[in-house]
Amino acid sequence: MISTPKQLVIVVLLAFAVPLTVILLVVQFITSGINADPNSSAMSDAAIAERMQVLNGNASTQSVNKAASDSAIAVADPGESLYNTVCQACHAAGIAGAPKTGDQTVWGARLELGNDVLYQSVIKGKNLMPARGGATNASDDDIKAAVDFMLSTLQ
Ligand code: HEC
Repeated sequence: MISTPKQLVIVVLLAFAVPLTVILLVVQFITSGINADPNSSAMSDAAIAERMQVLNGNASTQSVNKAASDSAIAVADPGESLYNTVCQACHAAGIAGAPKTGDQTVWGARLELGNDVLYQSVIKGKNLMPARGGATNASDDDIKAAVDFMLSTLQ
């Protein structure tokens, strides 16, 4: 098909020009509608603020987001989460003689010991309950929060 040098030059030029034209058209298509001229109305403070508003979501989705994060905070109560990850393994079903969570009768006598004694039992361990209930990385405050959470299920 290519028999003269002139034809070769034309083919080579077209091989560059055609894709380049297509790319330029695509870029123009995408950027049409965006006017980045700083003096244009699209770049006025009001227009920018309006677009930011769209990006940030309107007031109602913001309040939904806030409600979602509030409930995330509520679930993230350190005592409850420690209980759920560690303590419930024995206390949910009352395994190995553990006083069952929420069972008023088995907790009755222990409650009379007072919270401080209960905290110390868990921190030091008691009979079949290992120290810190096995949650070796938990701080004293975490343990106390988990005990408080367990006891809160009794009321
Ligand atoms: C391996 C099982 C096991 C795990 C895990 C466990 N416990 Fe216990 N827990 C027991 C047993 C058994 C007892 C009863 C000890 C006794 O009085 O003989 C007990 C007793 C208790 C008591 C009463 C202590 C007292 O002085 O009467 C509290 C409070 C308690 N656990 C809280 C917790 C908390 C909080 C956790 C999690 C950080 C936890 N336990 C994890 C087995 C466990």
